[in-house]
Order: sequence, then C-alpha cells, then structure tokens
Amino acid sequence: MGLKGEKVAFKELTKLREAVEQYNFSYYVLDDPAVPDAEYDRLMCRLVELEGKYPNLLLSNSPTQRVGARPISEFVEVRHDQPMLSLENAFSETELADWLDRRVRGPLKGIEVAKIDIDFSAEPKLDGAAVSIRYEKGDLALGCTRGDGAIGENITHNIRTIRAVPRRLRGKHPPPVLEVRGEVYMPKAGFVAYNARALEKDEKQFVNPRNAAAGSLRQLDPGLTAQRPLDIFFYGIGDVEGWDIPVSHSDLLKELRAFGLKTCPDSEVVKGLQGCLAYYSTMGEKRDELPYEIDGVVYKVNDLKSQKVLGLSRTHPNWAVAHKFPPQEELTVVREIEFQVGRTGALTPVARLQPVFVGGVTVSNATLHNMDELTRMDIRVGDSVIVSRAGDVIPKIVKVLEKRRPKKTHPTGIPTHCPVCDSDVIRAEGEVTVRCAGGLICAAQRIETIRHFASRRAMDIEGLGIKLVDQLVLAGIVKNPADLYDLSLRQLVELERMGERSAANVLGAISESKITTFRRFLYALGIRGVGDAAALELANNFSSLDELITANNERLIEVPGIGPVVAAHICVFFREEDNLRIIKRLIKKGIQWSAGKMSATSSSPLRGKTVVFTGSLSGLSREKAKARLIALGAKVRGTVSSNTDLVVVGENPGSKALRA
Ligand code: IVH
Repeated sequence: MGLKGEKVAFKELTKLREAVEQYNFSYYVLDDPAVPDAEYDRLMCRLVELEGKYPNLLLSNSPTQRVGARPISEFVEVRHDQPMLSLENAFSETELADWLDRRVRGPLKGIEVAKIDIDFSAEPKLDGAAVSIRYEKGDLALGCTRGDGAIGENITHNIRTIRAVPRRLRGKHPPPVLEVRGEVYMPKAGFVAYNARALEKDEKQFVNPRNAAAGSLRQLDPGLTAQRPLDIFFYGIGDVEGWDIPVSHSDLLKELRAFGLKTCPDSEVVKGLQGCLAYYSTMGEKRDELPYEIDGVVYKVNDLKSQKVLGLSRTHPNWAVAHKFPPQEELTVVREIEFQVGRTGALTPVARLQPVFVGGVTVSNATLHNMDELTRMDIRVGDSVIVSRAGDVIPKIVKVLEKRRPKKTHPTGIPTHCPVCDSDVIRAEGEVTVRCAGGLICAAQRIETIRHFASRRAMDIEGLGIKLVDQLVLAGIVKNPADLYDLSLRQLVELERMGERSAANVLGAISESKITTFRRFLYALGIRGVGDAAALELANNFSSLDELITANNERLIEVPGIGPVVAAHICVFFREEDNLRIIKRLIKKGIQWSAGKMSATSSSPLRGKTVVFTGSLSGLSREKAKARLIALGAKVRGTVSSNTDLVVVGENPGSKALRA
C-alpha cells in the first residue's frame, strides 16, 4: 500500500465520513432519512473496509466508532448507565458463518458450551426506535432514546402515552432498579391508517413505519404522541439492581413477560448455524404477514455466561448479530415520466426508473396514484428518489431527495393532450383524475375495454391475452367488443406468432363465451363504477337487460350498493348511442344468459367448477346444458386439463373421456 494509495483512500474516507455524518443527522435527529438504509449500509461497509485497510487513517470520531448521532434538541439529555449499543450486520450466509467462527466459536473455544452447537435466541429485528425504560421499585421512572449510544434524550412524557408500556411492573417484589431495553414501533396497519389520515388532512406522511415511530417519540407535545398508534417489544436489559439475572437470554425474556413487559411472540431458541439459517428463512417467508415491520433477524448467544466471556466492543456486543433481509427500499433516478391511459380514459403517471434491485426484484417502473400525487410529491425527471417494494405491493416512490435534484429540472405538468390519441385531456370538477376525452377513438381505451371484456370475471375468453388484444386493436381489426365475434380464422392466422391451432382455439373460446351470465355480461360492459359486486346486484335486481337500460336514477339507487354516482354513470352509459349499438350487435351475435334473477349462483355447488362435455347428450342439447351450467356459476371448457373438475360423458364419447 503505497503513499499514493493512502492519499486516495484518505480523500474517499473524508467524503464517506462527511456523508455518513450527514445521514446520521437526518436519521437520528430530524427523523427524516436522507437515503434508504441499503445505501447507508453500503457507505458504512465501505468505510469499515477502508479503515481496516488503512488503520492509521482511522479517527476516533469516525462514525464507525459511534452509534447513532448526538441528540441536539429541546429534550433533556440523559447519560445511559449501560451504553445502548448497536449490532453488527451480516448480509449473507457467508458473512454470518464468518461471524460465528470469528466472534463466537473462536473466543469460546475450550469452554464447555462451545463443544456442542451453540444455542441462540433468534428474534425478529424490529424496525422501530430503540428505547430504554427505567423502573424504580416497580414504577416507571424514566424513558429515553438511544441517541449516540452514550447519551440519549429524556422522552418519559411520550413513553407514558404508549399503552403497552406498564406504569408499574407486575409482581409483589419488583427489583429496586430494572432498566429494560426495547423497540417502539408502529404496527403496519396503524402506519397505513395514519398516512391515509395525514393525506386527507394535507399533512406530512411518514416514509415508513420506522420513521413514524421515531418521529412520534420525539414530539415535544405528548398529546401528539398519544394519538400515534405506537407499540413496543422489549428485548433486553440495561442497568439492574437487586435482581437475580437469569441464566439465559430466553429466560430473561420470560421473566420480562412476567413483569408485564411485552416481548416479541416470534422469538425462538435455535441451535447453531443451521438453526439460525432455518429461522432466517422462516421469518423471511412470514415477513409480509407479520403485523410489524422487520428488516432482518437478530441472533444472540443464549447463555448469559458465554455472553459475558464474549464481551462488548465499543459499538456492539460480540455475542449478537443482525442478519439482514435484502432491502425493500432503494435509491434510484427517475428517467422519464409517462402517462398511461386506462379503460375509462384516466391518465395515470408512471415513473420510468433506472432499474434497481429492491424487495427481491428489479424495479424499473413505479406507478403514481394520480396527478395529485405527482404534483404533491413534485417528482421530476432526473430526480433521485427512494423506491419501496414490500411483499407483493406495487413499487412506490416514497421520497424525493430534493437536495440531489440536478439543475434545470421542471415540475411535471399535466398533459393537455392524450399521449395515445392526442384528444383533449379533461379534469372534471372535484375529481383528482384527469381523463382523455377520446373515448373509443383512443386506441389505449379500446385496448383496455377489450381486455376487460375478455377478462376472467367478465366474458372469460381463454387465450385472448394482452398481446393478442394489442395486435387486434392496433391493426384496426377490433374496435369494440362486438367485433370479436366477427373474427375469422384467416384474420387471426395472419397475425404475428399465431398458428392455425391457437387461432382455432381462440375462435372456439370466443364462441363459447357467448353463453354467459347476466352478471358477467354487465361487468364486461365496463360501465364506470360497476365492478363485479355491483354487476351481481344489478343482475339480481333487474330481470332483463331492457329493464336495466330503461331504468332511471331513482330506480337504480334502490339497488343495494348502487350510490348516486354509479347510478349516474349507468344512466350515461345506456344513453350513449354507440354503446347501445354495440350491445345490440353482441346480442345479435348470440350472447345469451338464462333469464331471471341470478341469486341462485352464489349457493350453487357448481359455482367455480370447470366442466367439459364429450359425446352427445340425449336429454337436452349441449348448448342448453352449457347455458344451465353457466347460469349455475360453472365454467364450460372445450378441452380436458388439470383445471377440469367434471367431465360429462354422453353417447359416443371422444378422446376427452379417455384423457379425463
Ligand atoms: S438487541 C446490545 N434485539 O437494532 C444489543 N436490537 O442495530 C442491541 N433492534 O438499536 C439491541 N430488534 O433498535 C436487539 N430483537 C432485537 C432488535 C434490536 C431491533 C434494533 C435496536 C438496536 C438496533 C441495533
């Protein structure tokens, strides 16, 4: 390592330390993280790496030598009797195995317990804010934040507002001093509800449940903290006097529970590396269903004597490690903002992103709810943003890093013309949605209308997928749903990637879709506000399509679940000449359902079952049999597959019977 290398490293180190200091300040003091955790972790790792490589460049005030940030605020400072340390991180199996050998197995060598697989208390790594709460003679005496690990802030007034924190410990003989450590968190449901309310009141939303918890604890007015849905899990102790500390961490948790202190129900004792890894994968699978947010798991050597042998470093205990999950929040850049046009013409802004790996997948798009969200967050092309993807949830931009905004950017304006058909874009009074006024002139709206018409809960046309609809509409072959029933084999075969067999199957499926139910047909029409449930109500409350078409507002509002807005949409839909023309054509093409109200379907044992016919029926025609089955909620298919529930075998059955 030459002098030159050291010089370059020094420059990088200085930059890294400054950045980390800045991020620490935003995170711990302002409760407003400047970058996602994944980015912070990367910088910290690099810092540790460089300091390891160039030990003479290591400064005692480097952020790697401290935990958190020194509080600067109106809160009174409290010095922790026992420091509140942080945890070492392992980001992979190899790192964990390495930690186990280096930090635990090695130092415990020769000691009895190390001969067998070491027991660990495995716990979720809760994503909230660490607190220390002191009970004196059983009474809650002090609550404080972690701060920089040595000095925190007195937040007793806020801690008292958390219902899960007992004012007094249970049991007849509480110890003279018991300081407990735990994580205050905001349950996921509370977080979502809080943000929804904040949005309504035009107040600031929290980026994630962790900031919500940390921010709520550092309110000067406890009245405000009391309104936040906070909860707590205790996971350790600090200063204690006059209490016999149990022999293991898991027993310690048990005793805390006996004092009335909540501990995490998902903790377990596991054995050795394999036990840790199995726990990690179970918690990874459970993660989305847990009512609280976690960002990994923590393993703690369970035997407290061994913990003592292993000891503490300046910043972390040597007997515990955090095994982190892949990040669910990442930093990326907005490349483009485009507008997608939906079935009803609604324009939805979509941010095209620099691809980034987050929540287990590569994300390159984030849908924004509507124009208001785009304007409120002021997202611009070129912006650095934090994207979050948790579970199966659609990726979301949770924050714009305004400080990183390049020069000469412009706020993203509302388009004046539809990006697909160039028709005017309109915004109805009082609506947040802007819409393309083109109706079925607009190819995007046509495509979405056809897709919806053919979808599973609508006409259920198997094989008429997204790509095929795009091709048919863009080639001008299909302009509205009725055109589907005019398609010929030749037209289909001429399309790209369409063989004769698939074409015939599609035609077959289109033809089969003609026998349907009133509910499916109504849903398929795509009337604004008429979803599957509303379609069922309408089907149950009108005995014929004509009766529905001629119904006025008052009559429609009588239907359960149909409010004045949807009623108005229905009236508008059936006043439209084009719509009536298409409906007439559909009926003429043979679309039919059994007359009468449909309530029978919901309790029918055939509901949802897939039925296939083979051979000829003697009692009634196949068409009629099909119509009856469909009216009872069954699906009738042409071929036997793994989805088939029943096969009706008539006289002279074909190969389907054999296949079944
Ligand atoms: S033990 C001295 N257990 O992670 C050991 N910490 O980076 C440190 N955390 O400040 C605490 N869940 O806020 C421990 N089950 C758990 C935890 C946990 C979350 C947080 C805690 C701590 C940070 C360490």
